[in-house]
Amino acid sequence: MKILILPDPDAAAARVADIIARTLVARPEAVLGLATGGTMEPVYARLVAQARSGQVALDRMTGFNLDEYVGLPPRHPQSYHAFMRAHLAAPAGLDPARLNLPRGDAPDAAAEAARYEAAIAASGGIDLQLLGLGANGHIGFNEPSSSLASPTRVKTLNHATRAANARFFGPGEEVPRHAITMGIATILRARHALLLATGAHKAQAVAAMVEGPVSARCPASALQMHPAATIVLDAAAAAKLE
Ligand code: F6R
Repeated sequence: MKILILPDPDAAAARVADIIARTLVARPEAVLGLATGGTMEPVYARLVAQARSGQVALDRMTGFNLDEYVGLPPRHPQSYHAFMRAHLAAPAGLDPARLNLPRGDAPDAAAEAARYEAAIAASGGIDLQLLGLGANGHIGFNEPSSSLASPTRVKTLNHATRAANARFFGPGEEVPRHAITMGIATILRARHALLLATGAHKAQAVAAMVEGPVSARCPASALQMHPAATIVLDAAAAAKLE
């Protein structure tokens, strides 16, 4: 694991955006594994700014997002389809069809997960997988106790994750109970894994991911087995590292 510690969240997001941009400059048709969540918003904002100023072209890449809520159609404002349209496709003027996500409204979620896993393989595999980190150590929606050999599948979200994500939903709106998520094995197959974690509330999970045993109790610890994993942190998220 290569660990980069930047002074603040902005500098950390800028470093991640630069790594993505460098990947696309070297290979404009790269297949990118993409993530959603609050941590990623400044990353996409910087990438869009770089695209607008002509430093990088996004129009030949293919995206495969990590996950989507089961039950939410793409037009639902809290769906990850909507997040990607709002933070990447629309501001960068990208055809949303370049950004693949599992369909949360598929009639058979398990079949949709299998179709998605096959589509990733058919694309030639992911060159660079962007990841956030749950405060409980999840990557994608692979909650603690997820098999480290898991493929893309349906996962039940645990209480802490639903509570953390409730901030994105309106009052009285239910946070979905299930998601389709790339599995740990899917994530480990990416040629380069790039995780960004910022803030003191992630420090415990960061320490478990980097210095703890490789264990399903902290799914992100599986990245210790990845031959090319880069972990970008701000000082607060790195505070519990030895
Ligand atoms: C999102 C995803 C999640 C988030 C994680 C951190 O596609 O897969 O693993 O990256 O929950 O979320 P934030 O950045 O909101 O703290």
